[in-house]
Amino acid sequence: MDGNGRWAAARGYPRFYGHIRGAARVKEVVRASREIGVRALTLYAFSTENWKRPEEELAVLWKILRKYLRREVGELKKQGIRLHVIGEIDRLPRDAGMELRSAVETLSGGRHMELTFALSYGGRAEILAAAKSIAREALQGKLDPESLGEAEFAARLATGGLPGSGDVDLMIRTSGEKRISNFLLWQSSYAELDFPEVQWPEFTVERYRECLQAFSTRKRRFGGV
Ligand code: FPP
Repeated sequence: MDGNGRWAAARGYPRFYGHIRGAARVKEVVRASREIGVRALTLYAFSTENWKRPEEELAVLWKILRKYLRREVGELKKQGIRLHVIGEIDRLPRDAGMELRSAVETLSGGRHMELTFALSYGGRAEILAAAKSIAREALQGKLDPESLGEAEFAARLATGGLPGSGDVDLMIRTSGEKRISNFLLWQSSYAELDFPEVQWPEFTVERYRECLQAFSTRKRRFGGV
């Protein structure tokens, strides 16, 4: 969800206003995903690198996240949407972390769509954590590294419980930047990529539908013919 800051600056607003408008898009895109029948939607809301931002901007982001949860959890529950969080959730301010855990608990019965927020998330850190846990178990003699296949490794990533072990079908990055920026590195091995030239606050449901439509016409060969 890139481009909140640039969207705001281009219009003479403070950066935080871009995040407020961005949260409105989150609400719309999540609801539309459920309606369209998307099985899993993962939103990169905060990277491990985003901690370098000014304190005031961070404070506004956590406030927006809490407000989103307070306002939307009822609707998400009604829609059968289950919530997951991936990333270093313990680094978040206490109140935001508590609110997130409570929302995850409230929505744990959802069966129609998996919604994941990546918060203080980094793809390399995730892969490293899985590798360390495997090494620990091997050292304790609980696991034979030779027996480990890609599916077993994927199951140890934070997305292991998601449909298809978290493999990404379509990755959309707004703002026109053509980078993956440490997002779901293992899981996006065969992902189709889309880089719409709009900032996240301009990413309407209509534009989202266009991305899905374009995705549906792509031929995915997964290395085959
Ligand atoms: C990237 O734009 C966006 C973020 C770092 C924050 C995303 C947060 C939201 C959309 C709102 C809250 C989220 C939820 C899940 C309710 P940027 O600030 O990097 O923009 P720039 O690259 O133009 O500076």
